[in-house]
Amino acid sequence: MRNIQIGLLGFGTVGSGVAAILKNNLYDIDTRSHASISIKKALVRNLLKERSYSEGIYITDSPSEILEDPDIDIVVEVIGGIEPARSYMISALEHGKNVVTANKDLLAVHGEELLNVAQRNGSDLFFEASVGGGIPIISAIRQSLTANQVSSVIGIINGTTNYILSAMTEQGRDFSNVLQEAQELGYAEADPTADIEGLDAARKLAILSTLAFNTSVTFNDVFVEGISKISPADIQYASELDCVIKLLAIAKNQGDGIEIRVHPALLPKKHPLAAVNGVYNAVYVVGDAAGETMFYGKGAGSLPTGSAVVSDIIQVVRNMESKSTGLIGYGCYRNAPIKTTDSFTTGYYIRLKVKDEPRVFATLALFFAEAGISFSSIIQKPRPENNAEIVLVTHPCTERQLRQALDSLNSYSKLDKIYNVIRLETNSI
Ligand code: NAP
Ligand code: HSE
Repeated sequence: MRNIQIGLLGFGTVGSGVAAILKNNLYDIDTRSHASISIKKALVRNLLKERSYSEGIYITDSPSEILEDPDIDIVVEVIGGIEPARSYMISALEHGKNVVTANKDLLAVHGEELLNVAQRNGSDLFFEASVGGGIPIISAIRQSLTANQVSSVIGIINGTTNYILSAMTEQGRDFSNVLQEAQELGYAEADPTADIEGLDAARKLAILSTLAFNTSVTFNDVFVEGISKISPADIQYASELDCVIKLLAIAKNQGDGIEIRVHPALLPKKHPLAAVNGVYNAVYVVGDAAGETMFYGKGAGSLPTGSAVVSDIIQVVRNMESKSTGLIGYGCYRNAPIKTTDSFTTGYYIRLKVKDEPRVFATLALFFAEAGISFSSIIQKPRPENNAEIVLVTHPCTERQLRQALDSLNSYSKLDKIYNVIRLETNSI
């Protein structure tokens, strides 16, 4: 059997998951890949840290010991972030090595550049672990659904925010209280901005959209809104409307362009994604031939993410054996435009407080009618001091129409405040 040696760049949560899987499932992995696979070296920052599954692995803090080692066939980048990960990956590819990475931050911005470097050097660059942890969504889109014209990809692809919204829904708790718990449990980072502001999901969506629509989508193309403004009251009203609130990552091929957005949304309870709770992730893909498909599982963690990395390693080894590395390139043969927010068409939930007086509701209705928007539901609750809390739910309209109605509303003297405006994803069932 051929010996395949791996160099790990990073030996943290994911790196140690990779080492554990390669050790625990050694016989099956070697038999399935027809090779003897082992980790030769691992790059870290702190040489003194204790590491599990490090037996037999040479630990170094010098990247050249891995990048320039001629015996290393596959470099696994699990450092994270843009630099030095990008430079190390380019160097590995230019030294003729194949690369496997879990780095969504890097791919969502520099994916095209890196895939082009890989192809120029006849090397594989695989990244199954970059989206959805253990869920095999990249290979599903790249291979299993490749006969389809994909019309939409809708995902819950951030575990931290799904954990927070699920706990708020199930226990009626408020955002900051659950966020603190998520940090204590290790789901949310010490700085949770990338998760709660939707940036992590946007990076993953850019990667999925590029593959699903064969057109270049980067992080900056994605409209992003986070979940920090969602209150228990919004979740309660959503429930009255037979919906749950989820942070959705949505990409749709609208024919005249790609609509791509990450934001909290009311989703009907009967939608398959509504049942995805806690730290779980799921991606719902609609293709013209396969129809609706859904992929569900653990979106993060040492072993689930390690599972995706090791499956990529095995695929690289198979490609090395058949001398077919470097064949899967960037694959963006379309140049579809990215649609602007003005043309996004969704329903809207608007929760506001107004004076509880004659004509007030008629005036609100007029503002929306003038913008060409019609209502699908209305909830009104009396509040102290002659006020009323109103929830307006609209039929689908464009963001431009909504802005027109909100501009009128904001200049109305009987308006006390608009608590929240949240999109409704009712079109995608
Ligand atoms: P982590 O636990 O923080 O581990 C990072 C590793 O990289 C550590 O071993 C660290 O060394 C090393 N490192 C960091 N900066 C370095 C540098 N400049 N030079 C050399 N080594 C450096 O991170 P992780 O959670 O494993 O995440 C790794 C990648 O996987 C990221 O791209 C992340 O987005 C992605 N990912 C993670 C998960 C997950 O569940 N954790 C899921 C999906 C994708 P020390 O150990 O010495 O500090
Ligand atoms: N912070 C990410 C999440 C980790 O919460 O889903 C996996 O990418």
